[in-house]
Amino acid sequence: MQDSLEKRFPGVRFYNPALTEVQDDVEIGAGSRVGSMTVIHSGARIGTDTTIGSHCNICDCRIGNNASIQTGCHITKGVVVEADVFVGPGVFTLNDKLRGGPLTYPHIGRGAKIGGRSTLLPGVNIGAGALIGAGSVVRKDVPPGATVAGNPARQVFGTVEPTADENSTG
Ligand SMILES: CC(C)(COP(=O)(O)OP(=O)(O)OC[C@H]1O[C@@H](n2cnc3c(N)ncnc32)[C@H](O)[C@@H]1OP(=O)(O)O)[C@@H](O)C(=O)NCCC(=O)NCCS
Repeated sequence: MQDSLEKRFPGVRFYNPALTEVQDDVEIGAGSRVGSMTVIHSGARIGTDTTIGSHCNICDCRIGNNASIQTGCHITKGVVVEADVFVGPGVFTLNDKLRGGPLTYPHIGRGAKIGGRSTLLPGVNIGAGALIGAGSVVRKDVPPGATVAGNPARQVFGTVEPTADENSTG
């Protein structure tokens, strides 16, 4: 088992390959590492130098380079996690509103940080560099660089980009 995973994914380190399931049609880039009791489903595309922690469920999704998915995350089908993103422990991403409509998929922009135990509802866009406080339930899009927290998540600290007023020359 150990040999076969390491042969399938050259340059990828599995903490304990006997305790990791990687289905067919999965790509994991060199320099990445994968924890134990994690399942990576068919269709998943994982970049280079990315960490997937233990007890994770990684569905048919896209995870970029140099990202970190901490212990106990559910990254559901269709999610995009861009490069340099940090996803804290116990984060759940969702894609079905349970109202009979189409599935829609969370998108996490480059360099964003998602606090532990947060939930991202279907279709939300987390802007590049945004910070989501621990335990947040994110129902709406988060602007780039913004910090939001709570249930429902609200902007609590502004953004790192200048506001319209700060840009004003009047
Ligand atoms: C959001 C966060 C970055 C804010 O940190 P901070 O800048 O030091 O802010 P403070 O702790 O001073 O809190 C500022 C305000 O936001 C509120 N707040 C902070 N974090 C919050 C959270 N997760 N949910 C709800 N409200 C939060 C505080 O209650 C406080 O409100 P108040 O001014 O009305 O009292 C931090 O609390 C957080 O959640 N970080 C994520 C940690 C994490 O998940 N790490 C994962 C790797 S271990």
